[in-house]
Amino acid sequence: MDETIQKAALILKESRSVAVITGAGVSAESGIPTFRGSEGLWRNFSPEDLATPQAFRRDPLLVWEWYEWRRGIIKNAEPNAAHETLALMENDFTDFLLITQNVDGLHEKAGSSKIKEIHGNIWTARCIQCGQIFRTEEHPLPEKPVKCIRCGGLARPHILWFGESYDPEIIGSVHAFLENTDCLITAGTSGMVHIPVTLGMTARSRGARIIDINPADNEMERISEINLRGKAGEIFPLLREAYLK
Ligand code: OAD
Repeated sequence: MDETIQKAALILKESRSVAVITGAGVSAESGIPTFRGSEGLWRNFSPEDLATPQAFRRDPLLVWEWYEWRRGIIKNAEPNAAHETLALMENDFTDFLLITQNVDGLHEKAGSSKIKEIHGNIWTARCIQCGQIFRTEEHPLPEKPVKCIRCGGLARPHILWFGESYDPEIIGSVHAFLENTDCLITAGTSGMVHIPVTLGMTARSRGARIIDINPADNEMERISEINLRGKAGEIFPLLREAYLK
């Protein structure tokens, strides 16, 4: 492992522009369940009932109750060493972008500011009538389903659901950044939702070198040059220490 970390560190030492894509595994050490795998949320809950626009139309209260349960777990969670190291890393390179699939807000809580939350944020709601986006940080929620602060209409979690398209502005800015990225690190993602693989292939076709951090087999391995097998909270601090040396 030491040798592989040194190889990855050498790539980062030579990099001016670095991007990182994180997934649920990065928050696992903060006690937040991932989606897939033996303990994953999608083993016990069905995405069709909870994370689609159809599910919300059918039963907005059920959907909000599920998010309220997750908000309760997240509210008590603290950033781990991976989030903390990533917050420091944004000042180590000329250009840096953290792209996260996570909706828990823990990167922000750890101090990251150069960040794109491509799947939304669990502390934010969006009105399905007027489109207003607003923060909903109270836990427990004072009212379920949540109502729009502007027009009083029904609001939904501001989260990308199955069958929905990525926000073109956000994903456009991510693609633009990846045009000139020297190194892309993917961490804690299964790649089962295809976006990290797609973004990784874009970056690689523009010459970026790809490092993956994950304790288990995953889809990113197919496109990455270096696979660091371990927990994000352990690998990120070791990696940073190695490239700063
Ligand atoms: P998954 O649950 O699909 O994958 C989590 C990955 O994290 C797995 O590959 C694990 O091996 C790895 N992992 C577990 N513990 C880890 C640790 N301590 N350090 C590093 N890696 C670890 O989660 P995502 O790939 O993020 O969508 O899932 C993508 C999307 O699918 C999510 O954003 C969510 C879900 O449906 C939305 O909510 C829109």
